[in-house]
Amino acid sequence: MPPAVPDSTADASATPTAVVAIDGPSGAGKSTVARLLAARLGFAFLDTGAMYRAVTWHFLQSGCAPAECAGDADHGAARMRAALAAARLELQAGRVLLNGRDVTAHLRVREVESQVSAVSALPFVRTAMRDLQRAVAVQGPVVAEGRDMGSVVFPRARWKVYLDAAPAERARRRSQDFERQGRDVSAADVLDEILVRDRLDSTRSDAPLRQAADALYVDTTGMTTEAVVQRLYDHVRQGDRRQAEAP
Ligand code: DC
Repeated sequence: MPPAVPDSTADASATPTAVVAIDGPSGAGKSTVARLLAARLGFAFLDTGAMYRAVTWHFLQSGCAPAECAGDADHGAARMRAALAAARLELQAGRVLLNGRDVTAHLRVREVESQVSAVSALPFVRTAMRDLQRAVAVQGPVVAEGRDMGSVVFPRARWKVYLDAAPAERARRRSQDFERQGRDVSAADVLDEILVRDRLDSTRSDAPLRQAADALYVDTTGMTTEAVVQRLYDHVRQGDRRQAEAP
């Protein structure tokens, strides 16, 4: 990933448009769907949750994650800023590199999961991630998934989608992910964690989880992954056709 783009990109009127912006809560299936859709369209795939997770892991390694710095308000923030300034994030073919080290295997551990919402609520972290995300999309068309893709990072995205699913279904999907990773977490715990994360992600003051006004809403409850990918693929292609037909 290239270095952060300078301030010109803070101006939303200059943000990339060749973007499928996919937002939604945890467990709505965004990552899987976005990855498959990107492959089908020949677009790059941008997993912005992985970026926030990598920063959280880096803060944990640097001994300055929010929970550890809670009693140390100002110094904690200064240490996190310094750690962030020293972090070089790169996304390469589904892997996340931090200062050249592949940290992908660490992104879904519990310590990261329990602190990532607090880290992603920090405005200076969000600004840095937003600039990196726009720098990626400047290079070519992307499918970008997260919480604020259509609302904040890519307000001019040509396609915006909000993927949702009933909490029980999202918890079931996350439990299956954990099982595949060999982790034994009860369905009730997963549901509790999902509801906590929903609340934190949608009530933070900076770029909370929101459906963009011009986003297509898709409730994926009961839908197969293939059906969701097809729905989004059709949406993108129909949009293309309409644009080509416009006078
Ligand atoms: O999608 P995920 O579970 O990998 O996201 C991890 C966390 O990062 C989640 O708590 C919300 C946050 N996040 C965010 O605030 N903004 C994004 N664009 C993507 C993720």
